[in-house]
Amino acid sequence: MNVKTTKKRKDEHINYSLKKNVQSFKTAGFEDVEFIHNSVPEVNFDEIDTGIKIFGKNLGYPLIISAITGGTERAKKINSNIARVCDKFGIGMGVGSQRAMIEDPSLIETYNIRENAKNILLIANLGLPQFILGYTEKEAKKAVESIKADVLAVHLNALQEIVQPEGDTNFKGGLKLLRKLKKNVKFPIIAKETGAGISKETAEKLSFLDGIDVGGLGGTSFSAVEYYRIKSSQKEIAGLFWDWGIPTVQSIVETRPYTNVLIATGGIRSGIDMAKSIAIGADCCGIAHPVLKTAEDYKKLETNIENMLLEFKKAMFLTGCESVKELKRVRIVIRGRMKEILGIRGYSKQINEFLMR
Ligand SMILES: Cc1cc2nc3c(=O)[nH]c(=O)nc-3n(C[C@H](O)[C@H](O)[C@H](O)COP(=O)(O)O)c2cc1C
Repeated sequence: MNVKTTKKRKDEHINYSLKKNVQSFKTAGFEDVEFIHNSVPEVNFDEIDTGIKIFGKNLGYPLIISAITGGTERAKKINSNIARVCDKFGIGMGVGSQRAMIEDPSLIETYNIRENAKNILLIANLGLPQFILGYTEKEAKKAVESIKADVLAVHLNALQEIVQPEGDTNFKGGLKLLRKLKKNVKFPIIAKETGAGISKETAEKLSFLDGIDVGGLGGTSFSAVEYYRIKSSQKEIAGLFWDWGIPTVQSIVETRPYTNVLIATGGIRSGIDMAKSIAIGADCCGIAHPVLKTAEDYKKLETNIENMLLEFKKAMFLTGCESVKELKRVRIVIRGRMKEILGIRGYSKQINEFLMR
């Protein structure tokens, strides 16, 4: 695929994500995760420490703005606004797939936000299909070094590729290539799903990496995004797979034992969802679509993120937590559909542990 096609696709992803409904109809499962309210929290709100440390960086809050874009003028503006807001609140940022700038190095500047956000955790991004088609550690290093990123996310987008008529549908040998990549580079590598979630079986296979972003079902559906792009009769196939995947809550619980750094992305829509993710096992959260909606208007973006972080801190207050470490130990009720699914998957003991700890 040439640079022009890659750029056109990037713009279409943004346009459809903003103008059409691209959210999954199935939820991420947060409605089945309940905190137990604490009427005597014994906490001073102003003294709550919302900070965490991951990949050697201190974050003011456990939040990363997930990979969205790069490669076009519009993307440059979006990335620059996102970087500014991340710098302001001390949160992390991922850039969108850097395939366009590998194909055309003049596009590096549309991803390169480091000048304006010197200290934030910055995550580079390339897709597993590109490695299967021939990328090696050379391209991986270029993606990380050219934007001074701290970590490389290799995105796993099998669902998106299979529903596209022009998708890259050979995933054979992917794990072996990831292992080789991990051996040949010094920076941390995470695997990042893009909305279809990670199971315990997959998490175990990826446990040699430095982290996993579970990218679960319940937020942006890439099948939905592709549904709008497809003009042929295959459109209906993308529609059928709209809600395919593992909900984020289930993915967090299943992935937890297999990774050092667990990022919860997919349908996180409030600071309460963030707090629930941390309480059931995530180290950090990620959001994409809610950010995209305001990313071209800095003031709106800032208010959007500020509110979400405030909601998170208020949830910590109401559960009596002074630190994120404490939030990881609060009692949680898992009920309804999530209790059923997790029970079937063998996590009844874990559900009990959430309740009794
Ligand atoms: C317009 C758009 C473009 C995206 N592009 C990428 C990408 O290039 N690489 C990637 O790893 N994820 C990409 N994602 C996926 C997000 O990083 C995230 O995993 C997913 O949208 C789920 O989060 P959400 O429900 O908060 O949107 C994109 C998402 C959107 C909405």
